[in-house]
Amino acid sequence: MSGGAMARLDDDKRSEPSHPGALAIKSLNKRYRMDGRILQVLQDIDLNILPGEFVSIVGRSGCGKSTLLRLIVGLEADYDGDILLDDQPIRSTSLDRGIVFQDHSLLPWMTVEQNIGFALLTLDLPESEKKRRVAEHIDLVNLSGFAKAYPRELSGGMAQRAAIARALVNEPKILLLDEPLGALDALTRIHLQRELQRIRTQNRSTMIMVTHDVEEAVYLGDRVVVMDANPGRIGRVVTVPLPHPRDRGSRAFQHIRDEILADLTGAHDTD
Ligand SMILES: Nc1ncnc2c1ncn2[C@@H]1O[C@H](COP(=O)(O)OP(=O)(O)OP(=O)(O)O)[C@@H](O)[C@H]1O
Ligand SMILES: [Mg+2]
Repeated sequence: MSGGAMARLDDDKRSEPSHPGALAIKSLNKRYRMDGRILQVLQDIDLNILPGEFVSIVGRSGCGKSTLLRLIVGLEADYDGDILLDDQPIRSTSLDRGIVFQDHSLLPWMTVEQNIGFALLTLDLPESEKKRRVAEHIDLVNLSGFAKAYPRELSGGMAQRAAIARALVNEPKILLLDEPLGALDALTRIHLQRELQRIRTQNRSTMIMVTHDVEEAVYLGDRVVVMDANPGRIGRVVTVPLPHPRDRGSRAFQHIRDEILADLTGAHDTD
């Protein structure tokens, strides 16, 4: 790990040794059995993510990005290697890990506040504290005034913001985002990228976001993990040492974006 931004992050975290959300992935291998064949989806993944860090993951379709997130969130326990969150192995789902998918998957018969509150159902907290947390997270995603709205009354971007609030209301140590803005139009997407950056500064969760949009990956990530395909493995990890808010038009930004794009499209191979 190098670069100014990461160095600063390291320093911040070093002064707060108890801050949770450190993810360690060691020698991770994942295979699926299909029609009697064994498909190696992830091969020898090694990655350490700092508490509070924002890591973007890019890679070709089918290279195993969603599989990796599913393993981290604990939806599948059948893998080789170690995935440790604050030194604890991950083998099942837990409230300390939240996930947001491309499709917001809000429950259509519940209002925004009911959907967000639903995530707190099994938490042993007083009703007043649950209400306070729901209201706080509705504010965090700028949906004040829409607490009583139903999903059908929201735009795609608003629904996705509600889904982000629902994932954060448990105050997870780590938030996993699988192409969360993939279904939005370009302008809404840019707006939500700014929102995610703002949310990220107000919220201390570690965040890992899968995206197909390299510019988005560089705009938000402290680091960008570039995955290779067949089998899925880490090709390169790029540190983004640029201050926020990032200027997409700057030469430094475009240089990093173009390097990653060249990796993904194999332009380096023909050099
Ligand atoms: N449950 C499963 N059983 C068998 N194979 C699977 C299963 N889930 C995923 N795969 C295979 O694992 C590989 C990786 O899938 P994954 O969904 O992780 O890719 P991805 O990188 O997220 O792709 P995309 O960018 O298209 O979302 C694919 O070849 C897919 O067919
Ligand atoms: Mg996927």
